[in-house]
Amino acid sequence: MMALEAHRLGIAVKILCASAAEPAAQVAPFVLGDPNQLSDLLPFLSSVRVATFESEFYDSAVIETASRKCGTQVFPQPGLMGLIQDRLTQKELLDRYDIPTSPWRPVSSPQDAVVAYIAMNGRAVFKKRRFGYDGYGTFVVKSENELSALSLQMAAPGMIAERFVRFTREIATVAVRDQKGTVFFYPFVETKQKDARCLWVNGPIKETKALKTLKARITTLLSKENYVGAIGIELFDSEEGLMVNELAPRVHNTAHYTQNAFHMSQFAAHILAVSGERLSEPSPLARGFAMWNLLGSQARELSEIHPPMMESGAFFHWYGKIESRPGRKLGHINAIGKSPSDALALAKKMATKAARQLKY
Ligand SMILES: Nc1ncnc2c1ncn2[C@@H]1O[C@H](COP(=O)(O)OP(=O)(O)O)[C@@H](O)[C@H]1O
Ligand SMILES: [Mg+2]
Repeated sequence: MMALEAHRLGIAVKILCASAAEPAAQVAPFVLGDPNQLSDLLPFLSSVRVATFESEFYDSAVIETASRKCGTQVFPQPGLMGLIQDRLTQKELLDRYDIPTSPWRPVSSPQDAVVAYIAMNGRAVFKKRRFGYDGYGTFVVKSENELSALSLQMAAPGMIAERFVRFTREIATVAVRDQKGTVFFYPFVETKQKDARCLWVNGPIKETKALKTLKARITTLLSKENYVGAIGIELFDSEEGLMVNELAPRVHNTAHYTQNAFHMSQFAAHILAVSGERLSEPSPLARGFAMWNLLGSQARELSEIHPPMMESGAFFHWYGKIESRPGRKLGHINAIGKSPSDALALAKKMATKAARQLKY
């Protein structure tokens, strides 16, 4: 989606990826290679003016070395990617900027896990420090049996434990900062998770004083750390107040709706920011918007599809992944409407139609 937007804007892109079947390789020129290998990354970085990434789970030290050797800048900066890709250093970063987050502690052994479980009053969420996404790597523990099962998952560099938050809803936003220091936020949206993975997004939600304060603190973090690009911010709205659940140093699933609901999508904004262009505040095209993820229901190969016809105000997006798996994100539907609830109803209706027709 970044490659498509870059092309539309007249910015030429080239992809470094592991396989020709990857969605980005289907729409842009690519080089096969492993971004974690200096021998693949260095020649690639040397051949471009600036680089960014779509997943934060690469070796930030390798990227930093390659970037320094050839002088091609990578945004967001590899050092920040490294801080945010690790749940522990991410929590420390949030604490440093006084950004509210659920109480947490490091866990590096089964003994630590027991201590944390007791400290969290027998309701804790354990998260792998690295490589977690879509709920893989997140374990809710509410009993001693669940706690003993957890020790099997423990591997270097360990986990963090968080207090289980009884949230009333989950919300999210994406902020973007350009190289000159301009920062803007897309609106806050409600996000609904099913099996710890995003099912739908709906907004905008009313911006309370607490949300405004949070925006100010995040702006300070981005400015002081000289962050460049888009950053996803997931939050819990709870009776104890707002808490940041996690950050993602990239474009984010919860802002895919911006493709059709804003005059500048998160993908365009991110590409412009990392390319050194100046950003201005994006404007909404509708009063309500929604996004519904098209999640796989079974393990099967996917061949060419017949795209389902959308009603006015709804937009079908398909990623071209060659395999479906239960819960895997295969595409999404964006919808706009007169109100958030209108948009959500339309997105749901079109997602149901897509699932029935495509049988993924
Ligand atoms: N401390 C917590 N308390 C209650 N639920 C949580 C907590 N942490 C995570 N969850 C639930 O699990 C989901 C996935 O966890 P998250 O930390 O966002 O990991 P991922 O990287 O897989 O998205 C969250 O969206 C939320 O629904
Ligand atoms: Mg999450």
